[in-house]
Amino acid sequence: MNLRTTLSGLLIIIVGYLPHLVIAAEMSPEVPLELEKPSYSAPWQRYTGRRWARTDWKNFSNLRHEVLTPVSTYQKIETPIKGNPENGKKLVADRKRGGGCVACHIMPDTAMPGNIGPDLSTIGAWKRPDEFLFNYIYDARQFNPYTNMPPWGAHNLFHQDEIKDIVAYLQTLTEPTHFKTPTDDPTKRPVPVETRDNLDEFENPAMFSLELGEELFSTPGPKNQSCQSCHAEATELKTWAATMPKFETRLNKVIGVEEFVTRHALATTGAEYLAQSKQNLALAIYLRYLANGQTIAIDQSDANTQAAIKRGKALMERKIGQINRACVDCHITNVKKWIRGQYLVPRKGMYEHFPTYRTSRGAIWDIRKRIQWCGVSVRANELPPDAPEYGDLEIYLATLNNGQILNVPGLGH
Ligand code: HEC
Ligand code: HEC
Ligand code: HEC
Repeated sequence: MNLRTTLSGLLIIIVGYLPHLVIAAEMSPEVPLELEKPSYSAPWQRYTGRRWARTDWKNFSNLRHEVLTPVSTYQKIETPIKGNPENGKKLVADRKRGGGCVACHIMPDTAMPGNIGPDLSTIGAWKRPDEFLFNYIYDARQFNPYTNMPPWGAHNLFHQDEIKDIVAYLQTLTEPTHFKTPTDDPTKRPVPVETRDNLDEFENPAMFSLELGEELFSTPGPKNQSCQSCHAEATELKTWAATMPKFETRLNKVIGVEEFVTRHALATTGAEYLAQSKQNLALAIYLRYLANGQTIAIDQSDANTQAAIKRGKALMERKIGQINRACVDCHITNVKKWIRGQYLVPRKGMYEHFPTYRTSRGAIWDIRKRIQWCGVSVRANELPPDAPEYGDLEIYLATLNNGQILNVPGLGH
């Protein structure tokens, strides 16, 4: 073989490849997405439904703004405290006051106490000085910066006289609690097991949503095209949902299946399936259902994704709201813990079934709504569903659940 034939051979190879390169570029176009509009019905309106408080908690941290409230200094008070123990007994169980003390502590005569904090049934025998108890309850951060206890006084959940009543009550507690039923005892309480079949349409109302999603897939939008016009075989998409959420460079944030549906539909069929609408949930359920049985596999190879996961982890650890709790303060890994009668789900196992039907609310919730709710429950302002902060949390949760099997639509309490 001489030089000339080698060179012309090379030339043939290069020329032969050129069209392929062009075709290859054409074969993987950028996924069409609406990039300008928000994916929800703007301006964002806070929820009005049952127990969705709309108080503005702007003086406390949320996932976007960090407001570091000053830690109280130790207060000298007149002791022994002259409080009203009867009133104190009422206050410790008052759910309207940040869930009450029994959300986390065992105390006598309460049904279903939680066990995040120590059992205080005999605290009156521990010889804790009144002044110490007052200050600990007022703002435990002055003793322990990582305390798991809300700063009841400093965050205006109880005023000073109420805390004195609580101290007076605590000092009367000397006998171990006798639980009326075994389930009142958080150490014996059985962990709730969901026995209903989430894919049985008689058990899970979200199965109707799945049907709607399948129907919408072939329903033409304003541009006279349906999803099916471009995706003739929906089964081509059968692994996709298991790889979501993803960092989307054009939006500079992580988007989940739900936001993808809104933005992709607007850009292709023209249909407006805004966040948390019936149609959006239906298509999100359908796309995830196609991937049922697949293991969650988030590609963590690029730097943007890694940065988002890191931010998500930090957000999980940020104390937020008037109650001053981080996600990880409640979602404790591998330890059986209860807040009141509610079992705190370990972090693995809390992602693969979303969107999920919640029997207690009679509604389907996507993952973003669940995170919004957990924020409101600690009295922190929620963000719009497509907030980048939620994207970071979602991708972090999804990576913790890498390898879990997708099972949608979920069904739970
Ligand atoms: C969200 C959970 C939570 C709630 C609600 C809560 N606590 Fe606590 N509490 C804890 C934890 C956890 C500790 C253990 C130490 C720490 O993290 O600061 C604790 C510790 C204490 C202690 C110190 C016990 C000791 O060893 O001296 C007292 C007293 C106390 N809590 C009283 C209360 C009172 C009174 C209320 C209601 C006004 C309350 N707690 C509500 C979680 C909670
Ligand atoms: C006008 C054509 C068109 C229509 C209509 C269309 N898509 Fe797409 N879709 C695309 C293109 C192009 C891509 C990117 C290339 C690919 O993955 O096939 C894509 C990709 C996707 C992906 C994979 C995204 C990824 O990151 O790889 C999903 C899921 C999807 N489409 C769902 C839908 C759904 C649901 C609808 C209806 C709301 C829809 N598509 C309507 C053209 C379309
Ligand atoms: C005050 C305690 C508390 C805090 C703080 C909290 N959660 Fe929750 N979370 C709960 C409870 C209770 C549930 C319901 C458990 C159940 O479904 O039985 C829950 C459920 C969830 C679920 C659904 C689990 C499932 O399997 O369906 C997700 C996801 C979740 N929380 C995420 C978060 C994130 C993210 C944060 C931080 C922004 C957070 N939570 C903060 C108490 C909390």
